[in-house]
Amino acid sequence: MTAQHSLMILPGDGIGPEVMAEVRKVINWLENNKNISFTIQEDLIGGAAIEAHGTSLSTETLEKCRTVDTILLGAVGGTQWADVDYAIRPEAGLLKLRKELDLFANLRPAIVFDALANASTLKTDIVKGLDILIVRELTGGIYFGEPRGIEDLGNGERRGINTQVYTSSEIRRVGRIAFELAKKRQNRVCSCEKSNVMESGKLWREDITALHDAEYGDVELSHMYADNCAMQLLRDPKQFDVIVTDNLFGDILSDEAAMLTGSLGMLPSASLGAPGTPGLYEPVHGSAPDIAGQNKANPLATILSFAMALRYSLEQTHLADLIEDAVQDVLSQGQRTPDIMAPGCTEISTGAMGDALIGVLDLSMANAA
Ligand code: IPM
Ligand code: MG
Repeated sequence: MTAQHSLMILPGDGIGPEVMAEVRKVINWLENNKNISFTIQEDLIGGAAIEAHGTSLSTETLEKCRTVDTILLGAVGGTQWADVDYAIRPEAGLLKLRKELDLFANLRPAIVFDALANASTLKTDIVKGLDILIVRELTGGIYFGEPRGIEDLGNGERRGINTQVYTSSEIRRVGRIAFELAKKRQNRVCSCEKSNVMESGKLWREDITALHDAEYGDVELSHMYADNCAMQLLRDPKQFDVIVTDNLFGDILSDEAAMLTGSLGMLPSASLGAPGTPGLYEPVHGSAPDIAGQNKANPLATILSFAMALRYSLEQTHLADLIEDAVQDVLSQGQRTPDIMAPGCTEISTGAMGDALIGVLDLSMANAA
């Protein structure tokens, strides 16, 4: 029996369409070689949607997204929209998609592939073998809190306002995801906030602790102030297994963790909601307008995001493993896009990286036959 899955592809802006074209190659390969087939729709988000429809996420696109098994997104944003109002920016479309689908848990793994241990700006022994997972709360906190805005106070003085706000249930549901994932890993969760200065942080710590004591006593829990966590990630990142934190701290700490691995171009992410909701899978990197259209972008983060979709939304664990192993092999062969280029390696384009990966997948079939 061929497994049938519906997929929405949202390439977005900048390098999004280029990296997504490489994912298409992987999807085609799976359809041709494995018992799996996809019904694919493609639509606009971000700046591309603003240009076409005047909005970064149209109602029609959102409604289509609700009906599919899983959603793959490239990237949104670009310098040409930098001065546009927040409510109608490219980023607003992504935030709306996360919020409307209630994708409250954002999984951001930071893994150092053996072949790339030298690519980090940190000493190799600090990062070699690193495998941490940041679970970022994605639909609450200061990103969505009210009141927000810029007020005119007169006399040329203005006031900018954003509100950090969390409820117990928002904290506990993302905490639950972190504890469950930790059980399948090294069984350790570090919860990060600023309970020394913020009430929402105090509540965060109390609720995570209560959840732990009630349901996850077998998982090792520690707490850390987010600023200390930022420092510890650089000092000794391997002390962490799963880090659970709020929306804003998670945004910052996940970029830092990404850089430990040497390239933002390698890191995938998954955004998950309640069971039955389509997951949203996207690379951690942005739209990289500086290299867009030059066939230079690293497609591996988006390809690994698709692997996460196979793992977390489509229950195709063995196919996710297959793709992740193929990525390891391509890197071991010394094939590198410019962002991860190293002495002695071969610099290749976005398209060539996709082709190299397909080559490795073909080889895996030939070896298995
Ligand atoms: C991310 C990005 C987004 C965020 C932007 C593009 C809205 O930085 O996914 O980390 O801040 O969440
Ligand atoms: Mg970010």
